Amino acid sequence: MNTEVQRFTPASVDIHARKITFASAVDKERYWMAGSKLFTTGFNFASMLFPEGETFFIKSVQNFQSQIVDPKLRDDINGFIAQEITHAQEHEKYNEDAYDNGFYKLRGMEKILRSILVGSHRWVPKKFQLSFTVTAEHFTAIGANIGLQFPDLIMGAVDPKYREIWLWHAVEETEHKGVAFDVLKAVSGNYWLRIMPLAIILLLALVSSVIAAVILPPLALINKIRGKGIFSKPKGRPLPKSIKREIVLARNMFLKDLFSFFKPSFHPWDCDNSSFVEDWKSNYAATGKSALTQEA
Ligand SMILES: [Fe+2]
Ligand SMILES: [Fe+2]
Repeated sequence: MNTEVQRFTPASVDIHARKITFASAVDKERYWMAGSKLFTTGFNFASMLFPEGETFFIKSVQNFQSQIVDPKLRDDINGFIAQEITHAQEHEKYNEDAYDNGFYKLRGMEKILRSILVGSHRWVPKKFQLSFTVTAEHFTAIGANIGLQFPDLIMGAVDPKYREIWLWHAVEETEHKGVAFDVLKAVSGNYWLRIMPLAIILLLALVSSVIAAVILPPLALINKIRGKGIFSKPKGRPLPKSIKREIVLARNMFLKDLFSFFKPSFHPWDCDNSSFVEDWKSNYAATGKSALTQEA
């Protein structure tokens, strides 16, 4: 088994957990993302996934930790685990806030997710669990890159707590985006194993879209006859134009980056966006003005 792997994470990127504790939301505005129900729900849904999801990611990497001999990758694994533990803890608090603030249905979804992931950890082959984590980390890395490249998407948040937690998470996801990938590469260089979870996810998305395309038009017609819309209008304020513009650019970037995963030579650090990490450190952490101030 090849347990030595070339490390592509830039030397300047030091993966370590920051001792950060975020305050509760200040004004408890329910639709904190620029007043938009749709986008606030999207962010809160993503946050709901993190405590259980990141615990699963940690376990899937730990399954192979003892097989890794490369000292730098071993350090990176420790940094990855420490960062994901902090993310899970902070998003757990975030979620309690969100559930108390009207997003209580997400609590039930989190319970279902927990059962699925606990079962998967027990029954799914370990290498497939790791491969799934690599895919999930690809999604978080793309999301992080988008959030750091188009900060209006995060800075549209009316409450500083949300801006700070999402920026911090985006930075640390960027720092450790190559770790699970490098571990999988070290324990299995199998291309098909790496791309299988993403291929399955895309296939399910395609099948769901086809079913929706068949079901929704007649449903819309029936509702039109009954004088109703097919979907209730989203509540909250419409998004500002500047954010809408960035969403279009972000969507294009998302699709391009998502499919780059299928290149046999792909590595998460093909896209070197470490400058965003440096910018964040100087703009936020170093100012001492925000909740991102690091404890000693
Ligand atoms: Fe994370
Ligand atoms: Fe992560």
